Amino acid sequence: MKVLVNGEIINRSEAKVDIEDRGYQFGDGVYEVVNIYEGIPFTLKEHIARLYRSANEIGIQLSEQPEQLCNRLMELIEANNMTNGGLYLQISRGVSNRSHHYDQTLTPQLVAYPLPFKNVSDAQAKGVEAITAEDLRWLRCDIKSLNLLYNIMVKQKASEAGAFESILIRDGIVTEGSSSNIFIIKDGILLTHPANNLILNGITRTKLLEIMDANGWDYKIQPFQKEDLMKADEVFLTSTTSEVMPIIKVDGVTFSQAKPGPFTRKFQTAFREVVKAETKTTTEKA
Ligand code: PDD
Repeated sequence: MKVLVNGEIINRSEAKVDIEDRGYQFGDGVYEVVNIYEGIPFTLKEHIARLYRSANEIGIQLSEQPEQLCNRLMELIEANNMTNGGLYLQISRGVSNRSHHYDQTLTPQLVAYPLPFKNVSDAQAKGVEAITAEDLRWLRCDIKSLNLLYNIMVKQKASEAGAFESILIRDGIVTEGSSSNIFIIKDGILLTHPANNLILNGITRTKLLEIMDANGWDYKIQPFQKEDLMKADEVFLTSTTSEVMPIIKVDGVTFSQAKPGPFTRKFQTAFREVVKAETKTTTEKA
């Protein structure tokens, strides 16, 4: 496997991380996951824009322009002969003697490499189960930070319960999943949490809302309660790796006869079509 380390594409076995890297010691950095379809990264520009935003929010300045980084990532995809899978990218603040405060002159460390293809088509067809958990994270969930400790804890809880995702509840309100955004449908209207400091503004979420706009489908961006979730007609999540994923059971309660509901299906199909169209258009342009 070839990996990108600070602008250079090298073999995985040659890639080294310093033990005093602040990403390693403090989780002091940001990351992204991009999906690759037939060698084409989907919504790459949007992911890179969010990466720069996250970096900026924690005071990491990158010397490379977003376009340059996109070009390097395209080279990385080519160097690995990637067809389907993902790209993982992370930026840490840099390497220094361990102290909480940092020197503004540190050189950010950027690492990117391929992630194996995850087949979610069966889960997408049948739907998945979720559990709920209290949202005990910090109040800057809009930053895609390397600090994922609580997300990991609740994902593990879901996994041990035989579920796919933990849906997080803060003060009675459904915020998002441990690694996804959450949507409910009630009486034909889609609801999802506003993109504020309490959630990560998912690229998949944004794309789906654009698709809703383009089709003139109604939705409301507004917080909803756990009891609205439990009384919803349909529930689904979105994320880069899951796309539109139906949720058919939450805490043992089933939705739409334990099958993906008609609205979820419609959105799932519309999303797939956009993925196909956008990855195809880019191929033709290239
Ligand atoms: N997770 N919310 C959280 C907390 C996430 O970690 C993610 C993505 C999302 C969905 O964002 P997007 O649609 O841009 O993937 C929402 C990634 C995939 C991960 O950590 O692996």
